[in-house]
Amino acid sequence: LIRCQSTSTEEPKTRNPLDNASNLLTNLLSGGNLGSMPIAEGAVSDLFSRPFFFSLYDWFIEHGSVYKLAFGPKAFVVVSDPIVARHILRENAFSYDKGVLADILEPIMGKGLIPADLDTWKLRRKVIAPAFHALYLEAMVKVFTQCSERSILKIEELLHGKKTVELDLEAEFSSLALDIIGLGVFNYDFGSVTKESPVIKAVYGALFEAEHRSTFYVPYWKFPLARWLVPRQRKFHKDLKVINDCLDGLIRNAKETRQETDVEKLQQRDYSNLKDASLLRFLVDMRGDDVDDRQLRDDLMTMLIAGHETTAAVLTWAVFLLAQNPSKMKKAQAEIEQVLGQGKLTFELIKQLKYIRLIVVESLRLYPQPPLLIRRSLKPDVLPGGHKGDKDGYAIPSGTDIFVSVYNLHRSPYLWDNPNEFEPERFLVKRNNEGIEGWSGFDPSRSPGALYPNEIISDFAFLPFGGGPRKCVGDQFALMESTIALTLLLQKFDVELRGSPEEVELVTGATIHTKNGLWCRLKKRSDVH
Ligand code: HEM
Repeated sequence: LIRCQSTSTEEPKTRNPLDNASNLLTNLLSGGNLGSMPIAEGAVSDLFSRPFFFSLYDWFIEHGSVYKLAFGPKAFVVVSDPIVARHILRENAFSYDKGVLADILEPIMGKGLIPADLDTWKLRRKVIAPAFHALYLEAMVKVFTQCSERSILKIEELLHGKKTVELDLEAEFSSLALDIIGLGVFNYDFGSVTKESPVIKAVYGALFEAEHRSTFYVPYWKFPLARWLVPRQRKFHKDLKVINDCLDGLIRNAKETRQETDVEKLQQRDYSNLKDASLLRFLVDMRGDDVDDRQLRDDLMTMLIAGHETTAAVLTWAVFLLAQNPSKMKKAQAEIEQVLGQGKLTFELIKQLKYIRLIVVESLRLYPQPPLLIRRSLKPDVLPGGHKGDKDGYAIPSGTDIFVSVYNLHRSPYLWDNPNEFEPERFLVKRNNEGIEGWSGFDPSRSPGALYPNEIISDFAFLPFGGGPRKCVGDQFALMESTIALTLLLQKFDVELRGSPEEVELVTGATIHTKNGLWCRLKKRSDVH
């Protein structure tokens, strides 16, 4: 919402409020009617010199886990407390909508799940969630593996005859995630790991604009005639048309070959013999869901955007963290060797890749995507109390804009030991004297059988996919995809950063990514063939 500029990956420091360079923000802080809530007083320069969520973290340490912040005439409430987050996201979820986020995303995603109004959301969530059923996820293991193998092959070809190769792994992960989402969601092979195409360019163009919009408070794209007069808006609409034409063609094809069946039967299909295991196929074949093409296209576009950069970012930061912790990289490789050897990955084997799975979630803890969840209250509410300044809870009026700072929750010194350290093992301490393994400080019995620590086990201290009814619908898809891609990369290569970690500058929009790429040096592992 504020333009977030690049900075180094250094950890946020607690600021001295006396450093404040400007009274401007302080003067603007009177907006809103939020009772005795603490008010953040920060230097405006903070907002323009480094990612926004770093400043939100410093103010959290200074003011507590619920505070008010204002920009211009507008006040925001920043939440870094698990109980308040649980209240907003789960217990009282339908008293909130996506507020400013919906304004930004609606022109791109239409009535897709993320920006959809409540009525549309209810209908579509009921149809889309069952499409991510167990056999679908199992079938996706093949897609994740084949796409990852294409990336590995590409690196091997680049390495041919050389000891090491330098590569921007963020760009590689972005191509990989695009190929996977295309195949998984609508059975379309972008093939972006190895080629460029007008559709790929259009997807990146649209993503770039979506990101640009998410960093601006002023909705410049709504200005009259902007669509025709502003070159960047003209390009954006051209890109959207290329993607929409592609999606419309895929929807047409799927509808022409429709085989209508009950949901339960669709969920039990023999996926090993299916040529097209995609979500689109499921949604089109589902009996009783005569959705119009426009809605279907919005659904596909939403999943394309929601599932692409987020997963690429998880892989990017996992490698960034591992490269700085060679002993943890070795530990991960030892696990891969023990579980897989040089064999193939299967759904069952993922269950044994415990350490890799914890690396993925620990990367999401340190670099949550997105770092903030955005909500606006639809009616007056009272946020749970017990905080500095208000024991009974804060009354908030209708229309209050809220940031649930996942970044703050995930790095809260009140919730985690060594919050800024990369310690995948933190989730795996013995919980009691009986030697039961569980996730540190959490209660695995709340979510029995979960392959990955989640918001239920942590009681909303760990929220990588949000929580409550609007929780990510693709969480298991993304976690498995990341686990497989990381496993296959580490199975073949040792990875180190080309420069120092401080040189990897950090930028945020919808996700946290690097300014100039994650440049790494890759070497084929000498102990494997
Ligand atoms: C929602 C994170 C991958 C589809 C969300 C939300 C988060 C999130 C935090 C909740 C947003 C909110 O409450 O405001 C992630 C991360 C991913 C990922 C970190 C990768 C590591 C995916 C994938 C798909 C997907 C692969 C689809 C294939 C969606 C959709 C929603 C959503 C449709 C909206 C759900 C609703 O409102 O009902 N995601 N996501 N995401 N995500 Fe994901």
